[in-house]
Amino acid sequence: MDPIESKLDTRSAEYETACQAMLDRLDTLEERLAQARAGGGERGEKKFRQRGKLLPRERLELLLDPGTPFLELSPLAAYGLYNDESPCASQITGIGIVAGVECMILVNDATVKGGAVYPMTLQKTLRAQTIAAENRLPCISLVESAGANLLYQAEVFNYGGRIFANQARLSALGIPQIALVFGSSTAGGAYIPGMSDYVVMVKKQASVYLGGPPLVKMATGEIADAETLGGAEMHAHRSGVSDYTAENDADAIRTGRMIMAQLKYSKPKAGLARRQDVEAPRYDAGELLGVIPADPRISFDVREIIARIVDSSRFLEFKRDYGSTLVTGHAFINGFPVGILGNNGVLFSESANKAAQFIQLCNQSRTPLIYLQNITGFMVGSKYEREGIIKHGSKMVNAVATSTVPQLTVIVGGSYGAGNYAMCGRAYDPRFLWTWPNSQIAVMGGEQAAGVLAIVQEERARRQGVEADRNAIEMMQMMTRKKFEEESSAYYATARLWDDGIIDPRDTRQVLSFALSVVHNTDYISPGMPHYGVFRM
Ligand code: COA
Repeated sequence: MDPIESKLDTRSAEYETACQAMLDRLDTLEERLAQARAGGGERGEKKFRQRGKLLPRERLELLLDPGTPFLELSPLAAYGLYNDESPCASQITGIGIVAGVECMILVNDATVKGGAVYPMTLQKTLRAQTIAAENRLPCISLVESAGANLLYQAEVFNYGGRIFANQARLSALGIPQIALVFGSSTAGGAYIPGMSDYVVMVKKQASVYLGGPPLVKMATGEIADAETLGGAEMHAHRSGVSDYTAENDADAIRTGRMIMAQLKYSKPKAGLARRQDVEAPRYDAGELLGVIPADPRISFDVREIIARIVDSSRFLEFKRDYGSTLVTGHAFINGFPVGILGNNGVLFSESANKAAQFIQLCNQSRTPLIYLQNITGFMVGSKYEREGIIKHGSKMVNAVATSTVPQLTVIVGGSYGAGNYAMCGRAYDPRFLWTWPNSQIAVMGGEQAAGVLAIVQEERARRQGVEADRNAIEMMQMMTRKKFEEESSAYYATARLWDDGIIDPRDTRQVLSFALSVVHNTDYISPGMPHYGVFRM
């Protein structure tokens, strides 16, 4: 396996400009992340401090094994939605290591609207549960939630029930569900501990009830305080909803960590046995800042990215000279074997066939797949239609959709049209999908969409035998470009959970390494071998 020889000229003016453009984007990302992570800000913090509580991120930090990484998921969910009053979608989710075990951690942020659930909070929880199910991750919920946000109840209520169904299903699969309750947990918030395998409640602070004091008074006329209605002591002594009583936040976290340690939850050995010694890439990850040209219309070689994320930059390229607008090949990342598919231009029939064959090969050898997306789509035109590009593209889409090895996707540039699907976009359920801050997702580019709509209007005028209204068409084109620009931005996508987060390009190897460790929680090596041989496409 030869190392990739980088041709990136790190002394050129283009490289400098590209780095500067990416650094500017990263400044924006950092600023927005800091805002989101501040949660309810000073007002929220003051309230928590007065009540002697730890802040949500402080609880998280105490829960994690010291010095271990936390892979935060979708921190910019709900960005720009709900008048921006739900930073992080009011809930921190991510994968962290507790008592040596990779766990899915969900932390309500009650510094914002009492931890009430917005539609994107719900989506974030469901996504976390999907990841937990696919990767067999124990779930630890740090609960403090006012239940459904009543102003958005119509969007939360129906599918909200799925959270509790999932808890039962995960538990049935042998995936532990642990709830640590720190504050008021009402209605939906109460069912999280209700459906958990282990429940810890903090004395004189946690209260769990189907209806809080105001609702009970309204419904039955009974006047009861929160502690009597659903306090930790009552649930420990009377109702049996709580299994462990903690003195304070830190004690609850300590108990949660002990429960996790006691479970002795471990990874299957089959996948890990194939891991080899880790070697760093030969090229500096910092240079990833300058790989993507500042002008998105200028192409770049995806091998420059591969060289900076794989072990010792070694890449065994598959069919290098066939269908060369798609780069395919084997490598190791942090010691784990992977198959990589990266775009180097538009997809042609040959590149689609090559992809289908390569994906089958990786399924045969049970090797996880990594897609590096920078794709404008499949080639259009009568020559390509005649040679059956739809048929060939469909083979690639079929291979991606039916692949049974873990698939990880990173969108490093554009992600347009059926190229998004064929390169394992969100709808194809990769185990994880990340984007770089420059990425764009849309059915096509804004310029192309504006052009298509203009041609359609001109054609209609021609059929009707009237003069096309040039001003109206130009106005429509301008609005289409603007709409596409806004809707294809990485922030629009991440706010709506079309990804698992925007990452700094320099962190790509670390993030993929963590994810590769996480996907090895399932034994995808033994079961699910393909039932047919590999077709030469
Ligand atoms: N939906 C929408 N907003 C809610 C909410 C809900 N379910 N619960 C609380 N809020 C809002 C409050 O209006 C307040 O908004 P503001 O910051 O703009 O003033 C903010 O969240 C904080 O509420 P507050 O009551 O001041 O905080 P608290 O820490 O003293 O009490 C609760 C928190 C959860 C105990 C209390 O707000 C409560 O009982 N809420 C109702 C819970 C409920 O019945 N849920 C049913 C869901 S089906």
